[in-house]
Amino acid sequence: MKVAVIGSGGREHSLCVALKRSSNVNEVFCIPGNAGTNNIAKNINLNLSDFEKIKDFFISNKIDLALIGPEKPLVDGIVEYLENHNIKVFGPNKIASQLEGSKIFTKNLCKKYNIPTAKFGIFKNSKEAVNFLDGCEFPIVVKADGLASGKGVYICEDKNQSITAVNEIFDGKFGKAENILIEEFLSGEEMSFFVISDGRGYKKFGTAQDHKRVFEGDKGKNTGGMGAYSPSRLESEDLDKKILDKIIEPTLKGLRELNTSFVGFLYAGLMIVKGEPYLIEYNVRMGDPECQTILPKLKNDLLDVVLACVNQKLDSLDLEWYDDKSLCIVLCSKGYPDQFQNNIEIENLDKMKLLNNEFIFHAGTKLDNGKIFSNGGRVLNFVIRSENFKNSRDRGLQLINELDWKNGFYRKDIGFKVID
Ligand code: AMP
Ligand code: GLY
Repeated sequence: MKVAVIGSGGREHSLCVALKRSSNVNEVFCIPGNAGTNNIAKNINLNLSDFEKIKDFFISNKIDLALIGPEKPLVDGIVEYLENHNIKVFGPNKIASQLEGSKIFTKNLCKKYNIPTAKFGIFKNSKEAVNFLDGCEFPIVVKADGLASGKGVYICEDKNQSITAVNEIFDGKFGKAENILIEEFLSGEEMSFFVISDGRGYKKFGTAQDHKRVFEGDKGKNTGGMGAYSPSRLESEDLDKKILDKIIEPTLKGLRELNTSFVGFLYAGLMIVKGEPYLIEYNVRMGDPECQTILPKLKNDLLDVVLACVNQKLDSLDLEWYDDKSLCIVLCSKGYPDQFQNNIEIENLDKMKLLNNEFIFHAGTKLDNGKIFSNGGRVLNFVIRSENFKNSRDRGLQLINELDWKNGFYRKDIGFKVID
């Protein structure tokens, strides 16, 4: 089969690697891809907003199956667009993608189906929002509706901070804002919980904990993710059951009652408060770097899993996992998530010797004249699967030292809650 992966990050590189391993995959394309995907797939430089060009490419190259990595094309409806041209796609449709595309859609679903989440209010202008703040207890969380690439969420310690947040959102800092959400601050521990669904049923697809803050000790600004480990230390049968019964199943039922269904990866961002799960947000895709961290634990052929979903046969397949502990450290460009320089050469990568439980996934990299250059804030992902988190982290750090990229920085404490 010929398969195509849409996207250009570490998540997409790890998807390409897993697909390339399948004996039924002849060729992988990555649109637009990075220097890492270029080693195993054919990179095709197309604009992800240009669905028509993507469709034309798929038809003329007889692509059998497409996997969509990032949220934006999903929320913009790429799945139905391609399906209308008889292309098989793994990913949720536009309505189901509202779970990520609109926080208000998700909050209303939570209300209707009694899904545990932070108490919230929705406001159409800053006057209404500011009036509401008068009666609030702090901290409080102010959020822009719509996609904001992980930004657009403010944890406010007092009324002044909240007013700044409300004004910045309505002033368009994260794109045109028609509504904002103000919600209760939940104090607990976060966990990322994944399921894969074929539109009829679903299966759990692992758990992880990511480290979103830029500095060690989970301090500093939010980033796309500085590292992750899987499984989450909170994972247990009892908690799984609560998450599935109280959050995942009512959500899928809610979508069915809207006459639609969910095909693809569903990522629930949860806060676990005293053993009880609360939904913070949904993402309608794998996480990045959670995907890179979880996929090396999967024993199944990823193509079989994805085809089972696209053909609505997920119930006939058992997912099998390595029992190991997987940990990912993200090597970033100095200055990220603020200003950083691109186009800095990364030498030594081809000299790195990796065992088969060790991976270097590319994120912001590009190839120029046979040399690899940085091309983004998050540059490389070092993922190690081993019998314990400490070994995984030690080996990841050792590899980063070996690479010795002068423009890089990274957190040395990924997984600190699970490593003494
Ligand atoms: P989101 O983009 O909704 O995932 O929010 C980004 C981050 O803000 C989350 O990963 C949490 O760390 C934090 N956050 C969001 N909502 C809440 C909440 N209601 N209570 C506490 N922390 C929150
Ligand atoms: N790692 C967080 C995300 O992918 O949204």
